[in-house]
Amino acid sequence: MNTFREIGDGDVERVVKLWQDCGLTRPWNDPYKDIAFAREGRHSTILVCEENSRIIASVMAGHDGHRGMLYYVAVDPAHQRRGLGRQAVRAAEAWLGTQGVWKVNLLVRAENEAVRGFYEALGYEVNPVMCMARRIVEPGQNSLS
Ligand SMILES: CC(C)(COP(=O)(O)OP(=O)(O)OC[C@H]1O[C@@H](n2cnc3c(N)ncnc32)[C@H](O)[C@@H]1OP(=O)(O)O)[C@@H](O)C(=O)NCCC(=O)NCCS
Repeated sequence: MNTFREIGDGDVERVVKLWQDCGLTRPWNDPYKDIAFAREGRHSTILVCEENSRIIASVMAGHDGHRGMLYYVAVDPAHQRRGLGRQAVRAAEAWLGTQGVWKVNLLVRAENEAVRGFYEALGYEVNPVMCMARRIVEPGQNSLS
């Protein structure tokens, strides 16, 4: 059983590397900004698992006052299929449980259909909903003003 703990300042570079290695970064999402924002408030966190000075798994968890959400569920490719992904999700669910959350949502990119089996193995099911989104601040801009 691996241990998951909250991310610290010294983990940031290694977490970004993990996300890159797992193919989770996108040019229009600044991972450093995502990490800083998740660490800023008490309704969100990033949990990491460290082994031999490497961050080998991560999960970002948070809630908006209604539902819990998971992002950046990542396991180093060299450590996949050994139960770490399951432990990451369960650790995030436990953290969300301490926040009073009783239901967790997550988004899977359409091109990442392959991980559907992973989430189904953990008890998640596909809901008949459509995800709509609009960027209200352009990349590089700090706020709406
Ligand atoms: C998805 C990911 C986190 C899974 O991590 P993992 O450590 O390999 O998964 P686990 O070993 O904990 O697997 C848990 C269960 O899911 C199953 N599973 C894992 N990956 C699967 C896949 N791609 N397809 C189907 N089932 C899968 C396992 O067989 C296992 O089932 P079991 O317990 O019934 O045997 C990992 O593959 C990853 O980091 N992928 C790249 C990043 C990514 O796509 N993240 C998800 C973004 S939405």
